[in-house]
Amino acid sequence: MTNLPLPNTAPQSTTTRVGLVFGGRSGEHDVSIRSARTVADALSRGDNRQRYQVVLHYITRGGRWLVGDGATAALSGAIPTGSDHHLPRLPTTAHQVDVWFPVLHGPNGEDGTVQGLFTLLDQPFVGTGVLGGAVGMNKQAMKAAFATAGLPQVSYVCATANRLAYTDELVNNVEQHLGYPCFVKPTSLGSSLGISKAGDRGALLAGLQAAARLDDHLMVEAAVPARELECAVLGYGHLDASVVGEILYDAEWYDYTSKYSAGHSSLVIPASVPQAIHDRVQRLAVQATQAVGAYGLSRVDFFYQEDSQALYVNEINTMPGFTSQSMYPLLWQASGVSVEELVHRLIRLAQECHQGSPPHRTTNQPIQSTELSC
Ligand SMILES: Nc1ncnc2c1ncn2[C@@H]1O[C@H](COP(=O)(O)OP(=O)(O)O)[C@@H](O)[C@H]1O
Ligand SMILES: [Mg+2]
Repeated sequence: MTNLPLPNTAPQSTTTRVGLVFGGRSGEHDVSIRSARTVADALSRGDNRQRYQVVLHYITRGGRWLVGDGATAALSGAIPTGSDHHLPRLPTTAHQVDVWFPVLHGPNGEDGTVQGLFTLLDQPFVGTGVLGGAVGMNKQAMKAAFATAGLPQVSYVCATANRLAYTDELVNNVEQHLGYPCFVKPTSLGSSLGISKAGDRGALLAGLQAAARLDDHLMVEAAVPARELECAVLGYGHLDASVVGEILYDAEWYDYTSKYSAGHSSLVIPASVPQAIHDRVQRLAVQATQAVGAYGLSRVDFFYQEDSQALYVNEINTMPGFTSQSMYPLLWQASGVSVEELVHRLIRLAQECHQGSPPHRTTNQPIQSTELSC
């Protein structure tokens, strides 16, 4: 349970009603609840208290939408019980919402699905649209988009779960193109779910089998020993990049436990890197966001090899973690944008986007051919 002040739910005629959507049908359900608390809290403080009325919409793990007491309880950590065995229905409160704020991470939320729903409803919503969400969430599509934009990435091989019937061919391909160690990943998850590091053929096979239980599409990447840098992006049309942060963790790699268990990781903001690297990360973060057609908010993650000064774009998150300890709001705070101002700007961007000014396209990157083995 949390002692956060309750969100400002008192109806006031001049306030904007924000439909805060959280929970959801992905493995990142719990993180979404924590992110939603930060957003609800920020919408209830300072000037935002007069500006916004929060209408909580909680999506159960089974996909049921709850409003009212059930949603308030869920935000406080008391997950309502009850059957999820019926078709998910949008609550009748939906038509009272002026702008949606989906704080959903992972599949069925960050991947264009809920964005498609709000687009059909013709209502403004925070964050990227269908395309940016869908491409950003699928590592294979994301990497193809990055390659087209000429962004630096580590080498990788794609596979389908049913190709595991021909494992020799796949493993030979991995060994020939990548070698060990390598990372095996489901294509469409997040939060390190289903990811493993393989140091030999046995671990690779085990990793592929484990990832195939979670996703039909898999990828294997060459492991790079590197520092991990992250940069936050905000905007519609013109995109701003935050200061750059670094993740430190006490595990071999940044797995689910080191991400979400207290005391296993820490953030260094700003990252201690040469100014030229800092500036390059910011430029690449904006280019990566444009490459997948995203806008609103994103966090772009990098591998940085200090010796060679090499930078590789690892991935983009179009609904990054938004908990009080998360990199995204903390990067903006360090860049001079408080979390209250951040959520306010995000809502203004959503309204601007809905009013139809097309995001101008500033990607003038030459299309480079990148050697891929997909
Ligand atoms: N190619 C790689 N080289 C080194 N570390 C990697 C590589 N790929 C993934 N990792 C480690 O695994 C973590 C999670 O991988 P990532 O692709 O970011 O998945 P997710 O989308 O679940 O966050 C990274 O933060 C990093 O610690
Ligand atoms: Mg990641």
